[in-house]
Amino acid sequence: MTMNILRFEDEKFLEQLFHSIDKLKGTWRPGEPPLIRGWLPYVGMALKLQKNPLGFIKSLQKQHGDTFTVLLGGKYITFILDPFQYHLLLKSHKHLSFRQFGSKIVEKAFGIKSLASNADLDDELHTCYQLLQGKSLDILLESMMQNLRQVLEHKLSKTTSWDMAQMLTFCSSIMFEVTFITLYGKVIADDRKDYISKLRDDFIKLDDKFPYLMSNIPIELLGDVKTVQKRLIKCLTSENLAKLQGWSEIVQMRQNILEKYLVREDFEIGAHHLAFLWASVANTIPVMFWALYYLLRHPKAMAAVRDEIDHLRQSTGQKKGSGFSIYFTREQMDSLVYLESTILEVFRLCSLSSTVRTVQEDLALNSETGDYCVRKGDLVAIFPAVLHKDPEVFEAPEEFRYDRFTEDGKKKTTFFKGEKKLKFYLMPFGFGASKCPGRFFAVTEIKQLLIVLLTCFDLEIVDNKPIALNYSRLLFGIQYPDSDVLFRYKIKS
Ligand code: HEM
Repeated sequence: MTMNILRFEDEKFLEQLFHSIDKLKGTWRPGEPPLIRGWLPYVGMALKLQKNPLGFIKSLQKQHGDTFTVLLGGKYITFILDPFQYHLLLKSHKHLSFRQFGSKIVEKAFGIKSLASNADLDDELHTCYQLLQGKSLDILLESMMQNLRQVLEHKLSKTTSWDMAQMLTFCSSIMFEVTFITLYGKVIADDRKDYISKLRDDFIKLDDKFPYLMSNIPIELLGDVKTVQKRLIKCLTSENLAKLQGWSEIVQMRQNILEKYLVREDFEIGAHHLAFLWASVANTIPVMFWALYYLLRHPKAMAAVRDEIDHLRQSTGQKKGSGFSIYFTREQMDSLVYLESTILEVFRLCSLSSTVRTVQEDLALNSETGDYCVRKGDLVAIFPAVLHKDPEVFEAPEEFRYDRFTEDGKKKTTFFKGEKKLKFYLMPFGFGASKCPGRFFAVTEIKQLLIVLLTCFDLEIVDNKPIALNYSRLLFGIQYPDSDVLFRYKIKS
């Protein structure tokens, strides 16, 4: 009997049967959240999750409430879905480790071996993250703007005729190159374009296999992924990075720390750079895609965003037609409320980021709305995508509304569930100790790129087919579309 010929009643019956067995065997103990482990040993419910993670978790929420434990690929994960209980992860942070879970992921995905055993190295690398904020961020953004100009140069030189492109390919090509040279410096060799496109193609190949890299399938069984991973790491060793010109402050500082701890381990240094490079572009690419896609599909949104950019340009004395010389500071970009709201709406619709911690010892999580026990070695996760689509918080949650995060022409930061004000209502960047340190960089980079594209180009969508999320990232980050979309662009006359 296969899973798809099991009827709903059969599944319910099996679930009850398993629950009774679990009770007898002690797999489920009183005080623990409901346990859902399906009838496939080890795999548990992983196949159902893979098909549609959000739909699957929501269906379990309907049956079992806001907290339950699911067996997924050999791991028991307790999901906490009530946003008023998210803080339990912070409250119990001493017993819930990010490092243990994180170091396993980076080992598999990027070949990093040194983090699990070297907490000092990890701590020192974390000190670099201050260079993604404040004055250092302003310096990065100035360099990013110049790099954007360089990357788009050849597109700008083709004056009046329309050019056709696939939107995701277009966004990933620009985003990858601009981010790479802003952080790691310029390629000075004659084959600059060739070097970047090979790096990007390998990066995309590795990223494509990300869900499999997260699973327990040995990397050797994933086709040529191991070879691609090695090739990328090699490109990013100290020896090869030395050939690039103009490293950012953060890359320089990371390099100094890595050299201090990893003497004569250049391949391991390259693996650390690969992880950082992945973190810096893997999510901004799909956000850029979805933002452009939604703006092109919603003319009212496009008009509102273009209008506020035009106003800012005029009020800062930048003439119409000044094209690429347009420049806004971070504060000025922050005043573009519809642009920001569009990006936040993309996060709400497309982010499936979860925050996962490993339980260090048997633990009781106590809150006003319920107490439950979790076991040493299991995982605890919050999955805010459920909150992002909660109709009690966001009206018509499936709709794209560009002004959802604005109120009376200003930013809206107050959201309620029932009568209660939410402390957390939008969480694409994770939570607590592992919250994304690149969040300011990411949002400003996306704003900069959108401002330039909307100001310098006429853009039109060609394909009118509906697209959806492809869920290949499972519970990690921003989801890609299930297909690319044809569009055309030309320089504004
Ligand atoms: C829209 C874009 C982005 C999204 C949605 C995003 C999301 C996230 C999330 C959810 C985490 C936490 C993972 C966890 O808790 O397990 C994270 C971590 C991280 N992100 Fe981002 N990120 C983005 C852009 C960036 C950028 C541009 C950079 C660097 C320039 C960056 C650097 C990092 C790093 C280094 C970590 C690991 C932090 C640690 O070691 O504790 N991210 N990101």
